[in-house]
Amino acid sequence: MGGSIIGWGSHLPELVVTNADFAARLDTSDEWITERTGIRERRMGGLTSTMAIAAAKVAIDRAGIAPEEIDTLIVATTTPDQAIPATSSVIHAALGLRGGAFDLNAACAGFAYALVTADGLLRSGQRCVLVIGSDTLSSVTDQEDRSTAVLFGDGAAAVVIKADDSDHFLLAYDLGVDGTLAPVLYQDHGGYIHMDGREVFRRAVRAEVDSITTVLDHAGLSAADIALFVPHQANIRIIEAVNQRVGFDLAHTAVILDRTGNTSAASIPLALVEAADSGRLRPGDRVLMSGFGAGMTWASAIIEWGVSA
Ligand code: UT7
Repeated sequence: MGGSIIGWGSHLPELVVTNADFAARLDTSDEWITERTGIRERRMGGLTSTMAIAAAKVAIDRAGIAPEEIDTLIVATTTPDQAIPATSSVIHAALGLRGGAFDLNAACAGFAYALVTADGLLRSGQRCVLVIGSDTLSSVTDQEDRSTAVLFGDGAAAVVIKADDSDHFLLAYDLGVDGTLAPVLYQDHGGYIHMDGREVFRRAVRAEVDSITTVLDHAGLSAADIALFVPHQANIRIIEAVNQRVGFDLAHTAVILDRTGNTSAASIPLALVEAADSGRLRPGDRVLMSGFGAGMTWASAIIEWGVSA
């Protein structure tokens, strides 16, 4: 049982917040933020649901399907609009969907978790799954705290996955979580994100390297077989450290964090959608996505790109 991503789309809020904007009101500088993270600007505003709806409409249009053809909607998010109901309910209604829908919280690894879940649904007989990653981390970040405020942004991206007769889609995956590391990155109800940045950095590099090594091994592939690496977009130094250890190079890596900051569950699909929109993906290309985040969670997935851009 195979499938393809037949539609993709993204949405970013209009408000651009540059490093200079932060430097004007916090004890930070463009130089510090750029050198330590690679981030130059990020987008802020909107709701997780409204951004997700906008991204999904583009993806559904591109797929050329009717919304009723979608069997299940999975929304990867850590910042739902409300505690109850799930944000996927709101999105489901706005898009006029018919099948089931649920939120999935695996933080910045959420999109890769959702892709693996979608693959399972296709294997159990569903024909079409809509997967969205959408997060508004700016709404849970203390904009006066320089150690977190400069890192996060808002955004959403979506893909439509359709079953087909090929035997390709998800070639291999690895999902993980280490709950003993929950204290390194958390948000209390109603509060702001707290993060031990240095510890997250260290753990993230280790988790991603192990996870990528595992999926390559499961798929029987090597780094050279991967046409595009789409990592979670948290920090260019994390991406470079992982690349160096795994054997990827930046020419084969999708990077958007300079323009978006860390958008949590939206970060991998935003980078994937940009790569697809710019014609970087060709049928048969193997794409490796890998994310890590609060939990600590991690997830890696290798898919085969199946349609012409
Ligand atoms: O999606 C997963 C979530 N998070 C991440 O992936 C983040 C992972 N961690 C990181 O990306 C990096 O650890 C940070 C970007 C958060 C920090 O970079 P770092 O190189 O690890 O810096 P640091 O935490 O060791 O801090 C170095 C210094 C500190 O000052 P002292 O103690 O050396 O005097 C910080 O107070 O930089 C200071 N600092 C800042 N200075 C200017 C922290 N934030 C800022 C800032 N501007 N915005």
